[in-house]
Amino acid sequence: MPRIPDSKLSEIRQSVNIIDVIGAYLPLIKKGQNYVAVCPFHQDNHPSMSVSQERQIYKCFVCGAGGNVFMFLQNYLKITFHQAVLEVAKMSNIDVSEYEYKAPVKEVAKELVPIYDMYEDATNIYHYYLSTDLAKEAKKYLTDRHISDTVIDHFKIGYSLPKQCLVPAFEKKGYDDMDAYRSGLIVEGKYKRDRFVDRIMFPIHNSEGKVVAFSGRVFDKNSDQAKYINSSESQVFVKGEVLYNYHRCIDAVRHANHIYICEGFMDVIALYRVGINQAIATMGTAFTKRHIQLLKRLTKNIRLCMDGDNAGQTATYKMGELLKKEGFDVTVINLRDRYDPDEVLEKYGKDELLSNLELTMPFLQFQLNYLQNNCNFENYDDKKQFTTSAMKLISTLEDPIDYEHYLSIVMKITGFSASTLQSLAPFVQKPIMQDIVLPVMAPRQVINKYQRAERDLLHYMMEDKFVCDIYVKKVQIMHNVEYNLIANLITSYYKRNGVMEVSDFINSIENQSAVQTILEVSQLNIPSLSEFDTQPDQKHKIIDGYVETLKGYGAMLRKEKEESLLLNTKSTEEQIKILEQILTNKEELYEANDDTKPKIN
Ligand code: UTP
Ligand code: MN
Repeated sequence: MPRIPDSKLSEIRQSVNIIDVIGAYLPLIKKGQNYVAVCPFHQDNHPSMSVSQERQIYKCFVCGAGGNVFMFLQNYLKITFHQAVLEVAKMSNIDVSEYEYKAPVKEVAKELVPIYDMYEDATNIYHYYLSTDLAKEAKKYLTDRHISDTVIDHFKIGYSLPKQCLVPAFEKKGYDDMDAYRSGLIVEGKYKRDRFVDRIMFPIHNSEGKVVAFSGRVFDKNSDQAKYINSSESQVFVKGEVLYNYHRCIDAVRHANHIYICEGFMDVIALYRVGINQAIATMGTAFTKRHIQLLKRLTKNIRLCMDGDNAGQTATYKMGELLKKEGFDVTVINLRDRYDPDEVLEKYGKDELLSNLELTMPFLQFQLNYLQNNCNFENYDDKKQFTTSAMKLISTLEDPIDYEHYLSIVMKITGFSASTLQSLAPFVQKPIMQDIVLPVMAPRQVINKYQRAERDLLHYMMEDKFVCDIYVKKVQIMHNVEYNLIANLITSYYKRNGVMEVSDFINSIENQSAVQTILEVSQLNIPSLSEFDTQPDQKHKIIDGYVETLKGYGAMLRKEKEESLLLNTKSTEEQIKILEQILTNKEELYEANDDTKPKIN
């Protein structure tokens, strides 16, 4: 994977505001200059993470997590740094195709090129035919279902002719027959033929927005064929890996901070018709790990909007359980009259669908309803089974009010007393205090003037290049090993880039402990050099003060070391040698600490 150069990283980072990005995942509260949030990287109920608009970094003062926008996404979405950068680039429509992961074995990718091309061509061909007279009946069917031309264009809906349509087109294009068979669009036989004939065609895209399959719907009401037929799985299409409308919904999901999951294309289309773009469809298949992964890249908040029939409700139950286990917040939409979204829109109109979609039900409430509906309370065993299952669900609640609320529901349904029910699943208040990770703030160490000088100088080096130049010329080394590493990183960063912003600088650093130290040092509450912009002499004087202090640091450390050596040495000869050394050092030390020299407080 090609490395993304520093300048591109800065461009991408600066194209977004960290407040917007983190705000899409966590509720942020404005507090003075900064924003605060409950830190998602350790268990907590208090807003211990601060997000700085000015510095474009976040930092948790409890668990120590911190970084820039890339690092937030990397840690929050559990993706690599590189992937996080690409995610941010996509938010701002910055072209990063040259840095995207390419299949390691080039030949495989090459092999797939004609297949992707065929799907792209087929999409255009089908879409074109829908606008012709040959598609009169198909078009009438769509019009009857209130699918306008705008919607047809948006979803690139098409029409496959009753006779061959891709076969001649692909031949004309010079596609290889074997490739055409591999694509699944053309079927091999006595003579080759189109797989899809006389159907309304819905292109299905993968998460990158490439068409990889079709689903074709019959529109003749008297037809005895399957309502939809789909592309068979191929090298580019694995059914469990795609979600209908995924690539188109990304911006809307980030904006709304939730996503609707429907069963069918027509439902996604119905939502689009009422102005909701944050919707996808599973296309009637079970949820897979890959689907979960795709959703994790978008949002935590899932609204399950499956059909109201029994199959849809069972699918909701299964999906909801799985999503909950994966840490999603799940709510359920109950559609009027157990319809699907498209039917609600057709029968009751836009306002009814919109108000149905807004009425979200907590998943736990849905689970209780579902279990209740599937229980015959006349049968004692069934009733007992319901009671145990319901209380098992409730026992996971952490909030006493939630617990009380659901307990009273189960009491009402079963008629059992609170104490009996509670004996099945007592409410145990989670010991929240014990879960909190103790602050990593080091015990307030008293640092000496040398240590402080190194730390402050490091801070100013990141603030202004001229300080770094002085460091290179006059200091060159820091005695704190980590500071020294950081000083070297700063020096080479300036060499490469000329300027620095801390939130860009940390991109280039793999050592996570160094990143955290950089964030801490850069946030030190000491006067900014820019306050002295009108007095360049004063600026220099401040920095010179540090340089002078540090001149004495080496000598002081040597003295300390030799004194301890002296204490531990038995031989008189050795002791004399060490004493001589100490005396020479002392002169240096006095020189360096000469009080007549300018100093910084
Ligand atoms: P539905 O039967 O709920 O279809 O199947 P729908 O979305 O309401 O479609 P309309 O309104 O009748 O046109 C949901 C999804 O299951 C898949 C399709 O992806 C469909 O969108 N399905 C359904 C098939 O793949 N094949 C079928 O024969 C039926
Ligand atoms: Mn439908």
